[in-house]
Amino acid sequence: MTTQPQNGQLKAAFQLFILTIGVLYGLAHLAWRVLRWHFFNRYSGIPEIEKLGTTRSLGQKLDGTAVICGGSIAGLLAARVCSDFFERVIIVEPEEWLTTEDGMRRYGWEQEHKRTRVMQYQSLHGGQALLYTGLRELFPDLDEQCRYSGMTIYPADRRMNFAGTPIPAPVESYGGNLPKAILGSRSGFETLLRRLVLGQGKYRNVSQIAGTVVGVSPQSDDSSRIGRTKIRLADLGVEELDASLVVDCTGTTRAGLKWLSQSGYGTAVVHGDGKLPLQDAKITFDQKLHYSTLICNVTPATLEKLPVPSNQKIETISYGFGEDNTSKGRRIFALTRMDGNRFLIFAGQSSDETVKYETLDAMRSLVHDFKTYKDPIPEWVFETIDILEESQPVIHSSHLRVPPTAYIRYHQTADLPSNFVALGDSVFSIDPIFGQGCTKALLGAVALHKVLSTRTPADAKEIPGNFSEQFFKEHFNKTDSFWQVTHLLDYGIPSTTPLPGEDLQVGSLIRWYLRRVQILAIKDAQAARTFWDGAMGFGTSIDFFHPSLVLKTLFNTVIEG
Ligand SMILES: Cc1cc2nc3c(=O)[nH]c(=O)nc-3n(C[C@H](O)[C@H](O)[C@H](O)COP(=O)(O)OP(=O)(O)OC[C@H]3O[C@@H](n4cnc5c(N)ncnc54)[C@H](O)[C@@H]3O)c2cc1C
Ligand SMILES: *[C@@H]1O[C@H](CO)[C@@H](O)[C@H](O)[C@H]1NC(C)=O
Ligand SMILES: *[C@@H]1O[C@H](CO)[C@@H](O)[C@H](O)[C@H]1NC(C)=O
Ligand SMILES: *[C@@H]1O[C@H](CO)[C@@H](O)[C@H](O)[C@H]1NC(C)=O
Ligand SMILES: *[C@@H]1O[C@H](CO)[C@@H](O)[C@H](O)[C@H]1NC(C)=O
Repeated sequence: MTTQPQNGQLKAAFQLFILTIGVLYGLAHLAWRVLRWHFFNRYSGIPEIEKLGTTRSLGQKLDGTAVICGGSIAGLLAARVCSDFFERVIIVEPEEWLTTEDGMRRYGWEQEHKRTRVMQYQSLHGGQALLYTGLRELFPDLDEQCRYSGMTIYPADRRMNFAGTPIPAPVESYGGNLPKAILGSRSGFETLLRRLVLGQGKYRNVSQIAGTVVGVSPQSDDSSRIGRTKIRLADLGVEELDASLVVDCTGTTRAGLKWLSQSGYGTAVVHGDGKLPLQDAKITFDQKLHYSTLICNVTPATLEKLPVPSNQKIETISYGFGEDNTSKGRRIFALTRMDGNRFLIFAGQSSDETVKYETLDAMRSLVHDFKTYKDPIPEWVFETIDILEESQPVIHSSHLRVPPTAYIRYHQTADLPSNFVALGDSVFSIDPIFGQGCTKALLGAVALHKVLSTRTPADAKEIPGNFSEQFFKEHFNKTDSFWQVTHLLDYGIPSTTPLPGEDLQVGSLIRWYLRRVQILAIKDAQAARTFWDGAMGFGTSIDFFHPSLVLKTLFNTVIEG
């Protein structure tokens, strides 16, 4: 007699239980979607990149001149953005030859001069897919100009792997259209960018002068703004140039820091507002990274002989290997086609002592020394090295000790002039091995575009008094993750000297987890997509913590050990 109602109650309780689980699952799913949407909008830069091409419809421009200090990647991108907003844009760049034909030459490999102030100029260069996506918005004829300069645009399958075992590119999850990237040398890329901004007569109010910015002076009636920049010209004379906006794009010189402190900015700290004086804004750590690059010029006959694996093309052929065990300094090898008939062979290693790989033979020995995970290093890699060696090409060899990375925390600095901004390596540099430096400069330009188009009233003649502060907040949101993630990964290398007050244990759990996601990515599409997005500048940093990815990663760790 009593079983009937009990059964009914059980059934109802069970239904309620299922319903609750369903609702909780639905809520968790919704919460995740909201969280991810928030991260995507605020930090990824992607929504802003999509709007880059469309500037504010207003015809009126801001009065005066935007002075861009430095004419490399960040400077050229900042000039392009400012050309939409300012009456006049002047790039000030010390290397005089850059304003000549040679600085905008069609083929980078035929350039006669070499950059003396850009460390990376003759080293390994990789561009992320997000960089290409952004550049296409800024320069509608990018594809055509790349082709003209012998730079290849390709679906960005970088043949990623975990210690030799392939991680498939997420072609299907992008509906068969993997985002693209540009393949070519750093010299070719920079030269192309300069031609796009300065060489085609499209941005007529942008010009470049040869000179070094040596200081700034406050506006006479309002010291919260910079009035003029001081420029040392090629003939050593000093000239002053009026500036409505000063953009520090001086790379690792970080000259802005010096100009500002010499003019007394960054000192008036209000106690308790959490802001830093300028002199305390810089933090630095050292991964003691050594870069060896061999650039081989090959003949068409040699090109014919090279083996090409069935899933690659000779125009974009590449192979990369990163050691899993970091005790020898996270050694990394890369072999890649460049613009022109050139191949680049690269070795990177962190070490207290100098390490150099100066011959193809030294590179071969390095690759032989690697311990693989499941799949061996493919034969064609060794064959390619052999064939290149036999052909005795002209080889350009370079070795660099990459300087420590540094961060000027302008976003926390008190008392900056309202018309001063900085982007690119002048704000911070990161471990170059991840190939993010130019994307970071692009996102800086994106932040500048956003603050100019949304924070400056449409009828304004000059930028508002809180411009610098707004910019550095936006710049922080769009770029800080580059610093956080590389900082964390570099602490996995025993030779790294950490930031003051930290030790190399910082982030060890996340490092462990990210390595496990990479291992899962060999066989799991979600993990592969997340990993690819992270490597190419897409997605957001929380994608790695998607609940189902976390569960799968932990499960895979348990079953694989
Ligand atoms: C070894 C190495 C490898 C790298 N590999 C990659 C990679 O594969 N992919 C990637 O995206 N990034 C890479 N990077 C990072 C990339 O090189 C930088 O992020 C990028 O060059 C930053 O551009 P920038 O314009 O901010 O600075 P820079 O390119 O350093 O340019 C600074 C410019 O400022 C000028 N200048 C200096 N002082 C003054 C002054 N007082 N007044 C006026 N002008 C001045 C200089 O002449 C120069 O033109 C690498 C870096 C290194 C060191
Ligand atoms: C370009 O600059 C000149 C002054 O140098 C100015 O007269 C002209 O209006 C500017 N052109 C545009 C399109 O802003
Ligand atoms: C990494 O390599 C070192 C030798 O360089 C060795 O002592 C260590 O056991 C290795 N670690 C792992 C996890 O294989
Ligand atoms: C910045 O200044 C502008 C104009 O001077 C003002 O309209 C705006 O509210 C300010 N924004 C903030 C966040 O203070
Ligand atoms: C940057 O992110 C912080 C924290 O999420 C947010 O409060 C702030 O409004 C963002 N700033 C800008 C300029 O987007």
